[in-house]
Amino acid sequence: MARQIITSDATAEDLILEPNLRPQRLSEYIGQEKAKHILKIYIEAAKQRHDTLDHVLFYGPPGLGKTTLAGIIANEMGVNIKITSGPAIEKPGEMAAVLNGLGEGDILFVDEIHRLNRQVEEVLYPAMEDFAIDIMIGKGAAARSVRLDLPRFTLIGATTRAGLLSAPLRDRFGVIHHLEYYTEEELKTIIVRSAEVLDVKIDEGGAMELARRSRGTPRLANRFLKRVRDFAQVKGDGTITLDIARYALSALNVDSNGLDEMDMRILGTIIDKFRGGPVGINTIATSVGEDAGTVEEVYEPYLIQEGYLQRTPRGREATPLAYQLLGKRKQEDQPELF
Ligand code: ADE
Repeated sequence: MARQIITSDATAEDLILEPNLRPQRLSEYIGQEKAKHILKIYIEAAKQRHDTLDHVLFYGPPGLGKTTLAGIIANEMGVNIKITSGPAIEKPGEMAAVLNGLGEGDILFVDEIHRLNRQVEEVLYPAMEDFAIDIMIGKGAAARSVRLDLPRFTLIGATTRAGLLSAPLRDRFGVIHHLEYYTEEELKTIIVRSAEVLDVKIDEGGAMELARRSRGTPRLANRFLKRVRDFAQVKGDGTITLDIARYALSALNVDSNGLDEMDMRILGTIIDKFRGGPVGINTIATSVGEDAGTVEEVYEPYLIQEGYLQRTPRGREATPLAYQLLGKRKQEDQPELF
């Protein structure tokens, strides 16, 4: 189903596939030039000082390489990385144990860091600032807090929603970086690299077509590559050509701009039911039967980036490009007759 192939959450297949395709070094990492540039400087400076890297927060839509960059930073710094996520750590004691298990200079990567609960988050404040945790010993009047020193470490947080991060947590990151959608050229280079890793034959036209339809997201590009390879094998001679790519992607319901059924439904709803907007995100989500967070994090950023949707203080509005895409005409307000 189209929805499944477009979802930017990592699927079970991605989790198996991604480690092979993930670049291990900054020099192999394609795109995100700004992030690479600043990281290179910070990494070099920290290494020269024999210091740990400052805490880093990556934010931006899913599938753009936050986990990959965290792994690369660990490799470049020559340290271990421990990977966890906001929803996986439920109690302050669990966070304390994770922190206590780190070695000197290690990296702790917390994906979906905006989903840490408040009590767990509070363990992080002294940990990030002073490399220490405060543990309560005893109960009632005899209770007292004991400070436990931690090794110096680097926290790398990733979130699709920086706006949901509490200010005290956000302020403790020294480096905050927004990851951008990839250009078609960058995606094409990633696809060609992944095809080499997977030993798949792909020509120029095929690579460009996959790149064009991957909505700026390497995770989707790599997923498409794997699916389209099957079509090339069965319907062609094994090489992914432009024709094979087009055939396969339309079979997968991915249109020529990389938009899928849900994107179309979102735009169609705003235009047909709400006269093009402005309309609130929750209303849109209810109307298309999708979770508001998913609409906001997965679908909307790409629709905005591509110029189909715009965010105004009163809600979301469909742009003239969206009308054109759906072959609709904007209904002007009826002139008042009297
Ligand atoms: N695979 C997934 N993302 C990548 C990137 N940014 N560079 C190279 N290969 C990748």
